[in-house]
Amino acid sequence: MKALEGIKILDFTHVQSGPTCTQLLAWFGADVIKVERPGVGDATRKQLVDVPGADSLYFTMLNHNKRSMELNSKNETGKAVLTRMIEECDVLVENFAPGALDRMGFSWERIQEINPRMIMASIKGFGPGKYQDCKVYENVAQCAGGSASTTGFLDGPPLVTGAQIGDSGTGLHLCLGIVTALFQREKTGRGQKVSAAMQDAVLNLARVKMRDQQRLDAGPLKEYSQFGEGIPFSDATPRAGNDSGGGQPGRILKCKGWETDPNAYTYFIIQAAVWEKVCDVIGEPDWKTAEGYASPPERLDKLNQIFERIEEWTMTKTKFEVMDACNPLDIPVGPILSMKEIAEDDGLYATGTMVKVDHPERGEYLSVGCPIKFSDMEVAVERSPLLGEHTSEILSQVLGYSEDEIKEIAASGAVGELKA
Ligand code: COA
Repeated sequence: MKALEGIKILDFTHVQSGPTCTQLLAWFGADVIKVERPGVGDATRKQLVDVPGADSLYFTMLNHNKRSMELNSKNETGKAVLTRMIEECDVLVENFAPGALDRMGFSWERIQEINPRMIMASIKGFGPGKYQDCKVYENVAQCAGGSASTTGFLDGPPLVTGAQIGDSGTGLHLCLGIVTALFQREKTGRGQKVSAAMQDAVLNLARVKMRDQQRLDAGPLKEYSQFGEGIPFSDATPRAGNDSGGGQPGRILKCKGWETDPNAYTYFIIQAAVWEKVCDVIGEPDWKTAEGYASPPERLDKLNQIFERIEEWTMTKTKFEVMDACNPLDIPVGPILSMKEIAEDDGLYATGTMVKVDHPERGEYLSVGCPIKFSDMEVAVERSPLLGEHTSEILSQVLGYSEDEIKEIAASGAVGELKA
């Protein structure tokens, strides 16, 4: 038994933001029917191709556990099929450019007429306002959501992060919105429109930086390195390098091998509660009681010097030895793990966070599995569908068309070449 069993999703998503959302819904048990342009499909199928002729990893890693149907939603017969889909499905998810669904003839008003129980879920770059008509990709959202201006070092330009907070982050937000709307529909019997803007999702994830923006009114942000360095604050939350985002000072420090290994680093937090243990472990027991070091506020103007001394110690150890030494003492540290190290971590395969998936065109590949675990529901990761792999079965099983009707639909050019 899966939580969303019986829920049918008309998945009109493409690229990354929408597909991450519907992939989660599929993992939670919904029947996700990905509707793609005949002969073309989601553009990511053919982006960053590593195995010629096969769907790319970009596509396969974002579209597990879905079915694929080819349908031209601009063709008259295609529109009739889409109308049947809207009648049958519980949720329509889309992340087209603003206005694209209206231009197809399927406005929210029209969708409600066809199926008042339908939940329509949309991702757009921006919410209503001056930028509402813009097309938006990941890094635009990271910049417009406040993340980039607060990421990087004080003396360098704004930076985007590797984590796809604009796309996958918004997909997560929308997924939560959809299950919430399904829950509400249980009580009201009505569908509703659920929207998540990428700017809003990034800003939500950068919430602590808006906290700091307001704290600036009360004076300098003392936990930022720049305070200890005597550099004045401007009127906007600055970039904070690798300073920790909370009240406990932290930095990324070199470990043994850093000269040749770009990931021989550890994160190190000098949490107030374990300051004395930090002093012992690095060989500075006098700092436990020394004036200027004993309490957290006294240390704020010496953080660079303190972390340089800790780094002298971490450079004598590998990032894993630092962890082995600090964990038993409750000193929070974290190794900087490369994607290669994560891909080779057996423990992550044991929990299903990393999975190996077989694919008819590309063979076995690695993927990230469902990051959410349930005690009463197992999530099995299944390969992504080939383009139009399920068109026939959806037309017959889900929409109830007869064999002759399916032939007519195919002859109209509304669907691609039907697979056996
Ligand atoms: N049959 C017929 N036409 C189809 C179709 C189908 N099955 N699926 C899509 N189309 C059409 C659309 O109707 C649209 O036509 P129109 O412009 O004439 O109205 C066209 O294909 C292109 O869609 P669009 O969404 O504009 O794609 P794009 O490649 O130009 O833009 C994005 C891509 C991502 C920039 C844009 O979709 C967007 O801004 N989305 C919202 C924000 C977002 O999710 N961004 C992150 C993506 S990871």
